[in-house]
Amino acid sequence: MGECRHLAIIMDGNGRWAKAQGKPRTMGHLAGADNVRNIAIAANEAGVKYLTLYAFSTENWKRSEEEVGYLMKLPAYLFQKYMKEFMERGFRIRTIGELSRLPAATAKVLTDAAEESKNNTGLNLIIAINYGSRREILLAAKHYAQDVLAGRPEDLDEEGFSRYLMTEDIPDVDFLVRTSGEQRISNYLLWQIAYAELMFVPESWPEFTPEVLNRCLQAFGKRDRRYGGVHESAES
Ligand code: IPE
Ligand code: IPE
Ligand code: MG
Repeated sequence: MGECRHLAIIMDGNGRWAKAQGKPRTMGHLAGADNVRNIAIAANEAGVKYLTLYAFSTENWKRSEEEVGYLMKLPAYLFQKYMKEFMERGFRIRTIGELSRLPAATAKVLTDAAEESKNNTGLNLIIAINYGSRREILLAAKHYAQDVLAGRPEDLDEEGFSRYLMTEDIPDVDFLVRTSGEQRISNYLLWQIAYAELMFVPESWPEFTPEVLNRCLQAFGKRDRRYGGVHESAES
């Protein structure tokens, strides 16, 4: 059975989930934040080593000031409530995305969590916040160009280029799951999902329980990942 080392999730559908219950969209985001804890624990128990969660995209600034403000407070809520438990479980908190453009208090909560957990060797819980893959690739190209100008005209291969990305030493995504029925990538990990298996589930993020996750992982385990090759059983 194929191993899912790196699971990436597009946590979508919080707003619709709340609206369906006659609640404001922000209540969906709050339920979604609590679900981050449940799914991180379940993924860790299932043997996942890297869990990358899309919390806020570079495009999400288009939303109302009220909604953006609410979303920016959720990291503080999450880590105040669950950091002790994450530490006990050995989770290493990391981020991808430009923290410098976040409210200072939000950036601080995230860098503090990363600093506190940096020596942990368990699940890498990676929060993608103010993250956009095109921006990531653009910044990587600029950074490489600067290194070349500074006298490092080293031949660049795919492995070398990937080290300029925000995911640096994090392995490629094995499995990408998007909740709430939308079937698009929304500027997420474009380079890193080159050979990922994809799954789109109807459940919204607050409804995405550990049981649903385990069902997805089971289905992933049955996929035949060929990477452009041919499996022996299929050769004649
Ligand atoms: C995902 O839920 C959370 C973020 C994108 C921040 P949405 O807020 O996109 O919820 P829907 O898709 O509008 O229901
Ligand atoms: C993608 O969801 C971003 C996050 C989950 C953080 P969106 O809800 O923003 O994506 P679109 O706009 O439907 O593509
Ligand atoms: Mg959405």
